[in-house]
Amino acid sequence: METVVSGIRSTGNLHLGNYFGAIKNFVKMQYEHKCYFFIADYHSLTTHPAPEDLHNHVKQVLVEYLAAGLDPEAATLYIQSDVPQVTELYLLLNMNAYKGELERCTSFKEKVRKQPDNINAGLLTYPVLMAADIIIHKATKVPVGKDQEQHLEMARTFANRFNRMYKKDFFPQPYAFNFSEELIKIPGLDGSTKMGKSENEGNAIFLADDPKVIRKKVMRALTDSGPTRKNQQRPQEIKNLFLLMKAVSEPETYSFFDQAYNDCSIRYGDMKKQIAEDIIKFNAPIRERILEISSDDSYLKKVADMGKEKAIDSASKTIKEVRQIIGFKRF
Ligand code: TYM
Repeated sequence: METVVSGIRSTGNLHLGNYFGAIKNFVKMQYEHKCYFFIADYHSLTTHPAPEDLHNHVKQVLVEYLAAGLDPEAATLYIQSDVPQVTELYLLLNMNAYKGELERCTSFKEKVRKQPDNINAGLLTYPVLMAADIIIHKATKVPVGKDQEQHLEMARTFANRFNRMYKKDFFPQPYAFNFSEELIKIPGLDGSTKMGKSENEGNAIFLADDPKVIRKKVMRALTDSGPTRKNQQRPQEIKNLFLLMKAVSEPETYSFFDQAYNDCSIRYGDMKKQIAEDIIKFNAPIRERILEISSDDSYLKKVADMGKEKAIDSASKTIKEVRQIIGFKRF
């Protein structure tokens, strides 16, 4: 049995990228492994959410995790800021995380480009907090999408460095994980290679979107004027449409349109209609549960309290040992 940890930042509703990159794997793993899934609310502070939004975003992610099939009895489902041991480990790991390696991190460089007026230390040390999240439970598998691969490499670096520094084989090596072997990246509908919450309007389809919104977003997805040569190379926006179809449609449907592209008979309007209907079918049960669970505050409180207790139990064991290894002693 493996120990599995993964998290989602609480910055708004979850989208299909979050589902196919991460949640689908969480749901599969929860009955076979020791699983910790959490809501990364500290991580969300790097972009300075308004205080009145913070709790609502955490609630949204909690509701949507549950609606998508997470079983809080089987897995430990908790809120990052409920487990102070994580922040202690973060502080300790920060002492051995170097400015140069943090500055070279792709996600940091991207943030510097996107938000030049808010390059805070939390953004720089984001991968350190993420490493603390993972190794606090001594996890070996981390179900995430492709965009998190480099962060996982850094988590291994920090875990290894600690082991080497204190000459102890204490933290195991955590690896990014996906059942389909290849880590997944769901594209956006606006031609960009990644579906993301903070991208352009119309880029992402959210699990909570209603059928009308889904149809509208998909029908507006970027396409070109169509293939003119048999088996020709596909431009990015067309590759994106096929990637999305692969995630939500039946394999036969995918093959049909794939073939139609290759013999130049494809009609993008038909393909988009099919994708929209398949997304609607996929989203329907999740959306129904979202509506049900979000009004059940006492259930949500029960889930959060239960997760907090189980997560603290595991995290406090690790931090106690870490303190001993580093050399803290009581008088
Ligand atoms: P976040 O909140 O950006 O995304 C949550 C999960 O969804 C995946 N994901 C995608 N997968 C495929 N295609 C996409 N378009 C797509 N967009 C998002 C992400 O890979 C991720 O698995 N840093 C993390 C949160 C985090 C974490 C952790 C994860 C904090 N500590 C410890 C794992 C372990 C993040 O920002 O994910």
